[in-house]
Formats: sequence, C-alpha cells, structure tokens
Amino acid sequence: MGNIDRNIINARIKDRYPLTKAGSTKQTWHITLDIAGLPIDYHPGDSIGIYAKNDPMLVAHLIEAMQSEPSALITHKRSGQELTLVEFLTHHANLSRIGSSFLRLLHERDPSPRIGSLLQPENKEDLRTFLAETDPLGLLREYAKCKLPLQELCDQFGPLLPRFYSVASSKRVQPDTLDLTVALFTWTQGDEKRYGVASHFLCHLAEIDKTPVPLFVQPAHHFRLPEDHSADIIMVGPGTGIAPFRAFMQERQHHSAKGSHWLFFGERNKNSDFFYEREWQEHPNLKIHTAFSRDQDEKIYVQHRMLENGAELYEWLKNGAHLYLCGDAQEMAKDVEKTLHQILCTHGQKSDQDAKNHLKELKKAGKFLLDVY
Ligand SMILES: Cc1cc2nc3c(=O)[nH]c(=O)nc-3n(C[C@H](O)[C@H](O)[C@H](O)COP(=O)(O)OP(=O)(O)OC[C@H]3O[C@@H](n4cnc5c(N)ncnc54)[C@H](O)[C@@H]3O)c2cc1C
Ligand SMILES: NC(=O)c1ccc[n+]([C@@H]2O[C@H](COP(=O)([O-])OP(=O)(O)OC[C@H]3O[C@@H](n4cnc5c(N)ncnc54)[C@H](OP(=O)(O)O)[C@@H]3O)[C@@H](O)[C@H]2O)c1
Repeated sequence: MGNIDRNIINARIKDRYPLTKAGSTKQTWHITLDIAGLPIDYHPGDSIGIYAKNDPMLVAHLIEAMQSEPSALITHKRSGQELTLVEFLTHHANLSRIGSSFLRLLHERDPSPRIGSLLQPENKEDLRTFLAETDPLGLLREYAKCKLPLQELCDQFGPLLPRFYSVASSKRVQPDTLDLTVALFTWTQGDEKRYGVASHFLCHLAEIDKTPVPLFVQPAHHFRLPEDHSADIIMVGPGTGIAPFRAFMQERQHHSAKGSHWLFFGERNKNSDFFYEREWQEHPNLKIHTAFSRDQDEKIYVQHRMLENGAELYEWLKNGAHLYLCGDAQEMAKDVEKTLHQILCTHGQKSDQDAKNHLKELKKAGKFLLDVY
C-alpha cells in the first residue's frame, strides 16, 4: 500500500464529533486519533497523510457492475501481488476517476460513435471534460453487456493516494492523542450521493477504537512557529485552515509565550460554524476577528476583516510579526495575498512594485508563511 519509504503506523479513532452545529450547510468534524505508545513525532504546522479505505457500499456496487465476486482473484499490477477483488477495490484503487485507457478498452469491445468521437485527437478538450464528469461505476453500468475481462478492468484503475490533514493539536499538550479538523466532501453523481474517500472514511466509516487508520507524518518545514516565543504571530485560517492554528495556540500556551497572537477565522454562519469558539476564549493573549460569509446578503471574508484592520496589521508586520496563512489555495489564498498587497500600498505608502517586492521579501525571510491546498 502506497510509498514503502514512508513510516506508516496504524492509529485508531478515539473520538469524533461535528464542529458544525444543527442548521449548518456543511459538515466539518473534529477527529481525535489515539496515538498512545505509537512511534510518531510531529510539530505544530505538520500534516499527516492518511491511507483511507473506499466505501464498502461503493465497492459492492462496483463488484456487481463488474459481474464478479468479492473473492475473485486479480493481480495488483503495481506490486505484482495476488489480491481478492474486494481487497483491491477497497484499499488500492481510485474509484472516482476513469482514464482514457478505460474508454479505449470499452470501445474495443463495444464500439460506439460517442466514445469513438471522444477518442479522436481533435476532441481532447471534450475527452477531458468527459473523464472529469464520469465515474467508473456509472460507465460500467452503462456498458454492462460488454463483460470486460476482470484483470484488464482492474488494470485501468489509478492508485488510491493518501490524503493530507493538518495536525490540530500539540504533542506537548496532548502526548497520547492527535486531533484533526476534517471537512466532509460530498457531491451527487446522477441521483446518488457521493462522498470524498478520506473525509467519508474519517468522519463516518472508520469505527471508533476499531478500524486501523494507516498514517504517516508529512513534515511542513516551511510552516513552523518562530523559535522565539516572544515573536508576534498573525494567523489567517478560514474553514479547515484553522486546524494548524489550534496546534500553534496549544504549543504557545504550553511555553507561556510572551508574544501576541492575532487570528482571522472565517466560515459560513456564526451560529453553526464557529469552530472551537470556546477554546479561543481560553487563550488570554489571543485577539480574534471573524468573518461569517453567509450571515448577511453580501459576502464577508477574512480579507475584508484584514482590510478593516489594515493600519494595525501593517504595524504588526512592520514590528516583525510572522503572518501565517492556511486553507483553500484556489481562491482564498490568492485573495488574501492581494489584500496584503493592498494593505502594504495603503498603510506602508508603497508603490505596486514595492509592495510586491516586500511580500516576496517577507516570504523569503520566513515572515509570511503559507500552507494552502
Ligand atoms: C497539506 C494539506 C493539508 C490539508 N489539510 C486539511 C485539513 O486540515 N482538513 C481538511 O478537511 N482537508 C485538508 N486537506 C485536504 C484533504 O487532503 C483532502 O483533499 C480532502 O479531505 C478531500 O479528500 P477526500 O478523499 O475526502 O475527497 P476526494 O475523494 O479526494 O474528492 C476530492 C474532490 O474531488 C471531487 N470529486 C471526486 N470525484 C468526483 C467525481 N467523480 N465527480 C465529481 N467530483 C468528484 C470532490 O467533489 C472533491 O471536490 C489538506 C490538503 C493538503 C495538501
Ligand atoms: N464539495 C464539498 O462537499 C466540499 C466540502 C467542504 C469543502 N470543500 C472545498 O474544500 C476546500 C476547503 O474547504 P473548507 O471547509 O476548509 O472551507 P471553505 O469551503 O473554503 O470555506 C471557509 C470560508 O471561506 C469562505 N470563502 C470562500 N471563498 C473565499 C475567498 N475567495 N476568500 C476568503 N474566504 C473565502 C467561505 O465562504 P462561502 O463558502 O460562503 O463563499 C467560508 O466562509 C474549499 O476549496 C472548498 O470548496 C468542498
């Protein structure tokens, strides 16, 4: 399973509960793993990689669509190992995506104008869209009469890769447990509700105190607390981006850090999605600004709060504060960086180019640190 160089250990879930309350439009969970006695070392900022299992229901539907049996034997093409079909589909195969070779195999058996056209070199864009929107189960059901040879079919699946989660606790404060903050991914495929593999495994499928959760530490040398406990830190973490900052604050409290702390947190609604609200209040030298995007008609995001407090934020940066940013890379991180640029221009009287250079320098000096995904 996976990369043999990694030091993989099996933890178990000790406890889990939803951080999102009744009425929330999403599900984000707090997961506590039992790591007592396990050989694992990590620092605030690090993530762990998890090898999840696929949903048994999806596996059962696939075996049915393959017109086979759970105990049928196949050879795992990457390791050469002989495995039962159920074992292969549960632990080793990416069941949410098909590749073009899957389509070629179908087309060889049952040529159709639609697939034939998608496989033409001039239709690469359409092929890409089709592959992104189509899942193996739907396709196998549609082409049930083809009866594809089992081994060839299994050879089409990509590997099931580990998923990463920021550690949300400090080992100094919680030596026997490791916390995670996990957003559940869902979408619909036709009429069926589908879940993200690892978030579903952690939030629903893995049984408490029972199911092994194979994991390894993914160190984040680029995202460490300053060694100087008196240095000030600014943390920007909307959504699950909050996770490492819970670890940061535990660690800093453990060291009775003299530095000041400023957290910008954003989620959808204050009443249902203010993660770890009570815990933040227990940190005396933490200042917190929140942005709840769906409590009013217009969107309010963390960067709006940063802008409102731009003069003070600029002063903190000027005085040497470290600024940390964690969470969504697609939109959020880019928008927050643009806002920082704006703050440098407005409050630091910098030109566009000077502000760009300054942000680069902050990154180079380890004063603007990102862990975005
Ligand atoms: C360094 C790092 C740290 C991270 N930290 C955290 C963290 O602290 N907390 C956290 O919750 N996440 C974190 N993540 C993200 C996490 O690793 C996973 O990417 C996330 O949980 C989704 O994984 P999944 O297996 O549940 O979903 P997947 O099965 O990987 O699905 C992911 C996406 O693909 C879409 N998708 C998949 N198949 C289909 C399909 N057939 N049709 C349509 N859409 C499809 C889903 O909608 C979803 O958007 C982190 C990532 C990195 C790289
Ligand atoms: N498919 C799923 O089921 C599913 C579930 C959870 C997360 N995700 C994805 O996973 C990633 C991380 O999710 P997450 O739960 O950590 O948090 P998230 O979904 O990114 O949301 C956290 C907060 O950030 C806000 N936000 C959205 N765009 C922003 C931007 N450009 N700048 C600043 N804030 C912004 C959100 O507001 P609004 O949402 O109101 O705009 C919300 O208030 C995101 O890419 C998200 O789309 C997908």
